Amino acid sequence: MSIIPVNEPLLPGREMEYVNDCIATGWISSAGKYIHRFEKEWAAYCGRKFGIAVCNGTVALELALSALEIPTRKEVVLPSFTIVSCLEAVLRNGLKPVLVDCDPRTYCMDISDVRRKITPDTAAIMPVHIYGHPVNMGEVLRIAQEHNLKIVEDAAEAHGAECRVEGKWRKCGSFGDVSTFSFYANKNITCGEGGMVLTDDPGLAEKLRNRRNLCFGGKERFRHEGRGWNYRMTNIQAAMGCAQLEQIDRFIARKLEMADLYNQGLQGLPLQLPHVETWAKTSVWMYAVVLNDSVPFDAAEFARRLVDQDVQTRPFFMGMHEQPVYREMGFFQDGSFPVTERIYRRGLYLPSGQAITDEQIETVIQAVKKTLS
Ligand SMILES: Cc1ncc(COP(=O)(O)O)c(C=O)c1O
Repeated sequence: MSIIPVNEPLLPGREMEYVNDCIATGWISSAGKYIHRFEKEWAAYCGRKFGIAVCNGTVALELALSALEIPTRKEVVLPSFTIVSCLEAVLRNGLKPVLVDCDPRTYCMDISDVRRKITPDTAAIMPVHIYGHPVNMGEVLRIAQEHNLKIVEDAAEAHGAECRVEGKWRKCGSFGDVSTFSFYANKNITCGEGGMVLTDDPGLAEKLRNRRNLCFGGKERFRHEGRGWNYRMTNIQAAMGCAQLEQIDRFIARKLEMADLYNQGLQGLPLQLPHVETWAKTSVWMYAVVLNDSVPFDAAEFARRLVDQDVQTRPFFMGMHEQPVYREMGFFQDGSFPVTERIYRRGLYLPSGQAITDEQIETVIQAVKKTLS
């Protein structure tokens, strides 16, 4: 039997047709119709005015934060339980990261810890939606308003997820002054590699476009009045994105079906299954589980036992405060992040890709049952 991969994308729509169109017409670089179309359609899908496509979700965060022009050394509050891209965006913009712990059920940033960590130097909050479950954006918006803070919303893992704020459902990615996405191959829709920044502010959109493209001069191309990067997305990536976006409703419906099957099959085991808040609609990016304390081994051993049964998994994030590289740099010497530390050691996610079949899900369930019984 071959291994059940933790993720496998599906490209069953017009991906090949659109990519071939780029090749046939020679529009293979970062100009071309698919870029504009993907930016426009993704922004519209998320309920935003402007989309700025970039080459991945990591640079999307760095670029998004840069456009806010926050004075150096001001503080950005972000979760410890996230990918390193978030922290790097803060550091690369010359800002000070202030970490918060996460909620034990949604794994998203702990709102009460956010409140505790606000200081007169706080300039922004970076909520990160985790595994398809939204951060409580109603609370984040309230805190930002009370303290006059900017919001950089990382929606890389939450394509199509929604959060209810003041009685209205809104898509993740529609909340921040700037919000960001990744379209890596394991995301709910993919360009292979890719990212996007969204905003409703025309001034920010203009800045983001310029900085994505080396701040080339308007009148005189090689005269620069600002500093930027080459963070452009190619037309080929955008072509894939357009084709994938045509199928997003079906993709998310399948993710929800997958979660139902796992939820039913894994009931009664010593595992914490995904929790969905009443104000949230998850898009189940990954089906994440956490071992109960009664299980006499940790997530690494759990993963080893599953891989022996041909089931691939992925560990949870190691908290930013535990990362050797940042501790050596003198960051995060104190602070308490018990939930992040616990779920890093006890959590993993099961095969959750778009290509997974019902039979494979059943095989995973049986392997988990065997391991935990
Ligand atoms: C929460 C989060 N933010 C940002 C990123 C970075 O995206 P990329 O891999 O496209 O650079 C990821 C990647 O998976 C992520 O999970």
